[in-house]
Amino acid sequence: MGAGPELDFRSCLFLSCWLGEGTAGLRSSWVLLEEKRNGLGKTERGGLSEEKDTRWKMLSSGVCTSTVQLPGKVVVVTGANTGIGKETAKELARRGARVYLACRDVQKAELVAREIQMMTGNQQVLVRKLDLADTKSIRAFAKRFLEEEKHLHILINNAGVMMCPYSKTADGFEMHIGVNHLGHFLLTHLLLEKLKESAPSRVVNVSSLAHHLGRIHFHNLQGEKFYQSGLAYCHSKLANILFTQELARRLKASRPSSSFYPAR
Ligand SMILES: NC(=O)c1ccc[n+]([C@@H]2O[C@H](COP(=O)([O-])OP(=O)(O)OC[C@H]3O[C@@H](n4cnc5c(N)ncnc54)[C@H](OP(=O)(O)O)[C@@H]3O)[C@@H](O)[C@H]2O)c1
Repeated sequence: MGAGPELDFRSCLFLSCWLGEGTAGLRSSWVLLEEKRNGLGKTERGGLSEEKDTRWKMLSSGVCTSTVQLPGKVVVVTGANTGIGKETAKELARRGARVYLACRDVQKAELVAREIQMMTGNQQVLVRKLDLADTKSIRAFAKRFLEEEKHLHILINNAGVMMCPYSKTADGFEMHIGVNHLGHFLLTHLLLEKLKESAPSRVVNVSSLAHHLGRIHFHNLQGEKFYQSGLAYCHSKLANILFTQELARRLKASRPSSSFYPAR
C-alpha cells in the first residue's frame, strides 16, 4: 500500500524506519540540514551542494513505498493522541495492526481513537492510560498490557516534551530526561520479554537531530545545578540515541531496535 496523501513526511520516514527498510525504501531528495563552516552556508533543496566550504548533511525523505500489511500485529505508540504519534498510529491501523494509543490524557486519546477507527475502518484501536512522568503509571500500563495481550510486535517510544520550564516528574526526575528517556526506558524494560517472545519485533525510539547538541552531564542529570530547557531537550534526545544503540547491542541475537529522527 502506498502512503496516503494525509500521511505526512515525518511519518513516511518513520514508517520506513520501523518496517526495517532503512533508507532503501525512501527516495533521497531533500537537503534538510546544513552545517555551517566559517559562519557561511546556505540551505538548498533538491540535491547535495557542490560547495567545498559547506558540509551538508542529507536525510532521506519521500514516501514510504512499503506495501507491508500488519494484520495480527500488536503495536504500542506512546503519545499517540497528536502529532507524529497520531499519524503513525493511523497508518499502522490502516495496515491492519491492533494499535494501542498509550496516552496521558485518555479523553483526548479516545476521540483520536474514534477518528482513526472511522478513517481506517480498523476497530482495533485501543486507548490505555500512560503517564511517562510517573513510574507508577508506567508500571500500571505495562501490567495491564501484559495481562491482556499475548504479543507485542512493535513498541514506538514517541511521546516527548520539549523545552518546558524546569519541573520534575512524580519520581523527582527532571522532566525532559524523565519523560523522554527514563520513562521510555522503564516502559521498554517492562515490555522487553514480551517483545522478545513476539519476535520478529521492534522497538522504535523517536529521537531528534537535536541530539547532536546534547551532552550527558552525569553530575547534573536532574538539572539542579543549572538548567536550560533547550539543552535539557537535546540531552534527553541524546539519551534516546544511546539507549537505542545499547539496546540494539544487547538484543543483537534477537532483533535490532531502531532510532528515528523526524524531519527537523
Ligand atoms: N515535531 C518535530 O519536528 C520533531 C522533531 C524532532 C523530534 N521530534 C520528536 O518526535 C516526538 C513526537 O513529537 P511531536 O512533534 O509529535 O510532539 P507533540 O505533537 O507535542 O506530541 C507529543 C506527545 O507526547 C505526549 N506526552 C508528553 N508528555 C507525556 C507524558 N508525561 N506521558 C505520556 N505522554 C506524554 C503528548 O501528550 P499530550 O497531548 O497529553 O500533551 C503528545 O501526545 C517527540 O519525541 C519529539 O521529541 C519531533
